[in-house]
Amino acid sequence: MCGIVGYTGANDTLAVLMGGLKRLEYRGYDSAGVAVVAADSSIDTRKRAGKLAVLAEDLIEHPLAAGTTGIGHTRWATHGGPTDENAHPHLGDDGKLALIHNGIIENFAPLKDELLAEGYHFESETDTEVVAVELGRAYRRLGDLRRAFSEVVNRLEGTFTLLAVHSDEPGVVVAARHNSPLMVGLGTGENFLGSDVAAFVEHTRRAVAIGEDNIAVITPDSVEVTDFAGNRVEIEEFEVAWDASSADKGGWSSFMAKEIAEQPDAIANTLRGRIVEGAVEIPELGSLGPDILKDIDRIVIIACGTAAYAASTAKYAIEAWARVPVDVELSHEFRYRTPVLSARTLLISVSQSGETMDTLMAVKYARDAGVKTLSVCNTQSATIPRESDGVIYTHAGPEVAVASTKAFVAQIVALYLFGLHLGTVRGTLSTEGLHDMTRQLLALPEKLAEVLEVTDTVRQLAHWMADTRSVLFLGRHVGYPIALEGALKLKEISYIHAEGFAAGELKHGPIALIEPGQPVFVVVPSPRSSAELHSKIVSNIQEIRARGARVIAIAEKGDAAVLPFADEVIPVPLAEPLIQPLLSVVPLQLFALELSTAKGLDVDQPRNLAKSVTVE
Ligand code: F6R
Repeated sequence: MCGIVGYTGANDTLAVLMGGLKRLEYRGYDSAGVAVVAADSSIDTRKRAGKLAVLAEDLIEHPLAAGTTGIGHTRWATHGGPTDENAHPHLGDDGKLALIHNGIIENFAPLKDELLAEGYHFESETDTEVVAVELGRAYRRLGDLRRAFSEVVNRLEGTFTLLAVHSDEPGVVVAARHNSPLMVGLGTGENFLGSDVAAFVEHTRRAVAIGEDNIAVITPDSVEVTDFAGNRVEIEEFEVAWDASSADKGGWSSFMAKEIAEQPDAIANTLRGRIVEGAVEIPELGSLGPDILKDIDRIVIIACGTAAYAASTAKYAIEAWARVPVDVELSHEFRYRTPVLSARTLLISVSQSGETMDTLMAVKYARDAGVKTLSVCNTQSATIPRESDGVIYTHAGPEVAVASTKAFVAQIVALYLFGLHLGTVRGTLSTEGLHDMTRQLLALPEKLAEVLEVTDTVRQLAHWMADTRSVLFLGRHVGYPIALEGALKLKEISYIHAEGFAAGELKHGPIALIEPGQPVFVVVPSPRSSAELHSKIVSNIQEIRARGARVIAIAEKGDAAVLPFADEVIPVPLAEPLIQPLLSVVPLQLFALELSTAKGLDVDQPRNLAKSVTVE
């Protein structure tokens, strides 16, 4: 949830830290801070509540000492509100040590009591300051920052990535991780640390993912990784697949606007190299070879939020093609009951960040129960794919806006590819059916580009509706998870009450909400491919219209049957039923974006949220 950056080298340390924090701000944006080891080896820090811009202004008024080593943090508050005092870094060892933290220290209260009893005092309400003081105490005894880390991490319960500098060790940044992400960036005469590669991709694309329960020590010329006990760990370098410009706004009004527009390219990248002569090839499935896939008798897909709606959409396709029952569950619900699992269950996790703690814990739980695990992920070398037996990367490029858009469609497409592969190895899908679907997937980027043409219509609609207090969304079949996703997008970034329903459920309760003027978006299935479903939803539209609802239909171009009953029709290109959700979701994403913009809200960084939810 928080963003972390560390640097050591001859460049302008503060500029590197602030540049890294700018790229990480999507991880948390309620306060920010930096610390550098100054030329005289003292530690100089600045930290401010509010967005990074507040800290940047403060740094102009009160410049920080120059230094060649430093750490920076952007916070999403857990323990203690977003105040200057609670912002990171926190100090230990009488101000000679500065520490930043992502995660939660669950046993901070007894540790704090112990330190209070010894006469230490605290400036903040955070769990992090307890670690800073504890680390400072260990340093005084051991005189070595890595060894102090080794000792302290064993006392901590919870989740953490910790980074620290000490004035007696200029040129050194030490970091440790436990169930929280940590990357090293490898430079020449300089090295970097970050919660993800965005922290340093502007400077280097050579990266190392630090493993679970490891400690990394960087100096300008070295990177040393050990386990918590101090045993040397080999590191494996990889090249970041995207460059800094992919994570820039590039002239768009917001990252979300840019990412919506990038969807045709995102899908083309998800498909690239995976459809060969009409068949699907996914070499990254690792140990999940045909023998294992033939034998599975159930799939459980776990995910949270938007990723869970992607999973719910793909359930229809995987069941249809591979004839295996698919259950979709929220990771946090799955993990804390006693799910029935067997060696023939395949667990698929879906996560854009690959770091969502709820999903990570559920994957570990399933793996420990002997279940095979597959990850669908957008972030190279993230923790969840590294904990799984196989991975399908979505290759959608960095997603910065908190509200997920391009990752959503890419997740559905990746799951579709897997469903087609599974149907092929299990012999449940005909060659003709396979070729037809792969053809349609390959045609998708072009159709997505076409659906983006509705932007102006949607913008007008959003302007008219800027004062709306509640919006409902209806769908059937694959349109149902799209209705849920449309509602989530709207509440996330425009703070308007929004609710998605299965249209068939209306008469079982939700229709009571309909009153004159109530806006209702309806995701209408194609009349050509699914006449029965289509006529059912037209009836649902009539039922709500009769009660005064204002109906906005997302319908296939030329769908004449809907026209007489809808107040507005937003047309989407013709597509088969399983492809249609990938198109219908786009006007809903655009609507949320335009309404948030019309209300003058921060589209990319909505209140109370963070992009990567690394606490449970
Ligand atoms: C909504 C959104 C969230 C995420 C959810 C899972 O726009 O972005 O609901 O989908 O927090 O995140 P990942 O996919 O990173 O596991």
